This record gives sequence, structure tokens and C-alpha cells, in this order.
Amino acid sequence: MLGKDQPVILQMLEVPGEGMKKLQGVKMELDDSAFPLLAGTTMSSDPHEAFGDADYALLVGARPRGPGMERKDLLTANAKIFQLQGSALNEVARRSCKTLVVGNPANTNALVAAHNAPDMNPENFMAMTKLDQSRAEGMLAEKYGCSVDEIDRMIIWGNHSSTQYPDISHASIKGKWAKSVVDMKWYESEFVPKVQKRGAEIIDARGASSAASAAAAAVDHLNCLHVGSGDKWQSMGVVSHGEYGITPGLYYSVPTLCTGDRTYRKIMGVPIDPYSAKKMNTTEKELLEERDGVKSLLGGSFEKIVKPYNVREKLRASMSEDELKTLVETEAKFTFDETLRVRILENVKSAAPKPELTIVNEVLKEGGQPPYTKEIFDLMKGNPMQRKKATEMYTEVKIKTAVSKLSDEEKLALRGSVKGKKAFEF
Ligand SMILES: NC(=O)c1ccc[n+]([C@@H]2O[C@H](COP(=O)([O-])OP(=O)(O)OC[C@H]3O[C@@H](n4cnc5c(N)ncnc54)[C@H](O)[C@@H]3O)[C@@H](O)[C@H]2O)c1
Repeated sequence: MLGKDQPVILQMLEVPGEGMKKLQGVKMELDDSAFPLLAGTTMSSDPHEAFGDADYALLVGARPRGPGMERKDLLTANAKIFQLQGSALNEVARRSCKTLVVGNPANTNALVAAHNAPDMNPENFMAMTKLDQSRAEGMLAEKYGCSVDEIDRMIIWGNHSSTQYPDISHASIKGKWAKSVVDMKWYESEFVPKVQKRGAEIIDARGASSAASAAAAAVDHLNCLHVGSGDKWQSMGVVSHGEYGITPGLYYSVPTLCTGDRTYRKIMGVPIDPYSAKKMNTTEKELLEERDGVKSLLGGSFEKIVKPYNVREKLRASMSEDELKTLVETEAKFTFDETLRVRILENVKSAAPKPELTIVNEVLKEGGQPPYTKEIFDLMKGNPMQRKKATEMYTEVKIKTAVSKLSDEEKLALRGSVKGKKAFEF
């Protein structure tokens, strides 16, 4: 999970009684497996003990839906577990601890845990949607006869639930734009609902939640974070700062890049067409309802780091009536004009943030020559903070260069279609 040379100590948490008894069996099996990288195992039924000095926390244990239990009751019962676990993490885990929430409802559980860990960065809490991405990639690979490695930029937006939106608008299959390959009728009527309901389909077949695939996805998620995943896009339920017009503070799945420095970067500025916007709003609405259902348990405030902004609204507010009219017309045209769409997509693709190492190599090769300024070059050689700044400046140069090549009409279409901060700055 953390690379082939990194030993780990597993500090396992279970409920007292029957849960602890079963955990003893799990511990025996782990010990008997003699895994070379397993440096120790501990068991506890107290999160304050289990989370002590943790670098990573995988929150899997959750209450399943019982007979006669309403969705709201399930939400509250689980929220209480994650309230306690968030607060225990806050007290005893490492400040830099990364927490992956798997137990359902994963996004809202992540929200509750993060709110109850006021001394920890909300960015360090994540809800797992990697399994949904893997499911979608698996289905595309099977249908189009390729390996999952030949599929990239598959996005899961929103909630890990049946409202999630598996989006292929930016995906590539065997190097080709997915929308030029995929049968869109099949996509809308079969693929989307199948990905959305895959979890339930597995429960029907097995009588229990997905286990091996969920575990593989959790391992993959943390492996991407710790070791990096190159240029491959990874979907994660992470705290919204208002990107893509999503309500700030929600844990909403978006595409990210993991550069192997224990963090993720959201991919900004991908164009959103009206079909996608509708689906993204539906899953956001569900997350807002879930958030309202657990309001009383949301102790902390994210105000310090979550600065609300709705780019699209701001952009529209700053426009004259004539500009707005042109924008609406161009947006309508944008929806139908696939050539324009592909061209814009290509520009945005080449402007998307890259892993830091790739950027460093590229900037070093240019030796600080334009379009990368000497300042970026010098910062690249500095400490991690300076490198982060250089990466941001580099991305800006890349995006500005890409956008400068667009026609006025394309710029307008791009501005109108992207809810990302960068687009707002063009
Ligand atoms: N995000 C995803 O993609 C994804 C995929 C699969 C499963 N899930 C979810 O993961 C959760 C676990 O699924 P499962 O099939 O392993 O369930 P399970 O019931 O087989 O196992 C859950 C375990 O957690 C323990 N537990 C319950 N409450 C606990 C608490 N407060 N502290 C410590 N341990 C506790 C239980 O005793 C049990 O051993 C469920 O909520 C499920 O819906 C999510």
C-alpha cells in the first residue's frame, strides 16, 4: 500500500464483544501470513488507543442498515460513529494523518469526521470513490476490448451513492477521445445506471458489500497518495472550496492528480456540458440533504480554509447584458459543435496540472527560458513551499499559453463552460 519498501504497523479497531473476538482471528491470520512488511499489529476497541500517532487512518467500520431502519436513521447512527472517530483522531493521531473514509455514507461520514477534528486540515479527510472509478473503467474495458490501463480521465463526480455521476466526457480509451468511441445510447441508458448501482448489485449477489474490490480500491487510493500515480486521473471525495460551483465544505468526488507527496491536486477547469452539469447538481443536492440530516453533529468550522466562491455566478455578475446574451448563445452552440468542443478539450488537456517531477524536468530542460520565467526556474530548485509556488506559476503559464491560442469565440465558450478558478482569471 505504501510502496514495496515501507513497513507498516496495523493498529486495528473493532467494537467490543463479538467484534473483538473476530478481530483476534484476523490478527492471528495476519501474524501467520508472515508478511515481510508487516512490522506489528495491535487491537483495540477504543479509537483513542487505535488512532495513536497514526499516519494513515482507514475508517471502514460502519453500521449497516438494519430491518425497518430509514435512510435518515442510518445517516445519524453512522454520523455518531464518525463524530467520535473524528474527535479521537484530533486528539491522538499525527497532525498530518490522512484519513480515508470507506464506511457508508462515505462522503457525509468524512464531512462529520473532519468537522469533529478541528485541529486537522479538512483536506486530509477523503471519501473513497476509487472503487466507482475502477468499476467504470472495468466496464469500459470489457465493452471496448482493451485493458483498464488503456483508459484514463474517467471521472466520478459527487456522492458515493446511486446519484454519483460517472463522466466519460474527458476520458480516453486506447488514446482516443471516449465520446468518439462510445455508443452514447448505451452510455446513458446502461453504463451510468450500472456504475451507480453496482454496489447494490453486489450486495444482492453476495448478501454482503463488496469486499475484495473495496479493499483493493482502498489500497490503490492510499498508494496513489503516498507513492503517486503519474498522469492518471484519480477520483476522490474531497472537501469542496467551491470549485465547479459545488457548495463549499461538502465532500464531493472530483478528479485529482497524485504526485506522490502524500497529497492530491484537484484537476481544475475541465469543461462541463449541460448534461454533466445536471447530473453533478443531482448528486450535490443529495449531499446537501445528507449534510442537513447530520447538522447537529457538525461541530467545527472550515471557514479558515474553505473560501466560498462561485466562479460562474461571479463571472456572470461582472458581465454586461450583451456579453451575457453572447455567452448564452455561445454556450448553446458549444453544446452542439463537437469540433469546437474537441479543440477546447485538447487545449485544456495540455494545460492541466502535471505531476511535479514532470514539471521540474520540463522547466529544467527549458533552463528558465520563456515561457517559464527565471523566477519559476529558481523556485523549482528551492524548498517544498517554493516548489509548490513554482508549480502553480507553471500551471498558470501553461493555461495562459493554451488559452492565448484560442479564438475569441472559443475563449468565451470556455469561460462560460468552466466553473474553475483558472478560467475565471483568463
Ligand atoms: N466506499 C466504498 O466504495 C465502499 C465499498 C464497500 C463497502 N463500503 C462500506 O464499508 C462499510 C463496511 O462494509 P463491510 O462489508 O466490511 O461491513 P461488515 O459489516 O462486514 O464489517 C464492518 C465491521 O466494522 C465493525 N464496526 C462497526 N462499527 C464500528 C465502530 N464504531 N468502530 C469499529 N468497528 C466498527 C463491525 O463490527 C464489523 O466487523 C459499510 O458501510 C459499507 O457500506 C464502502
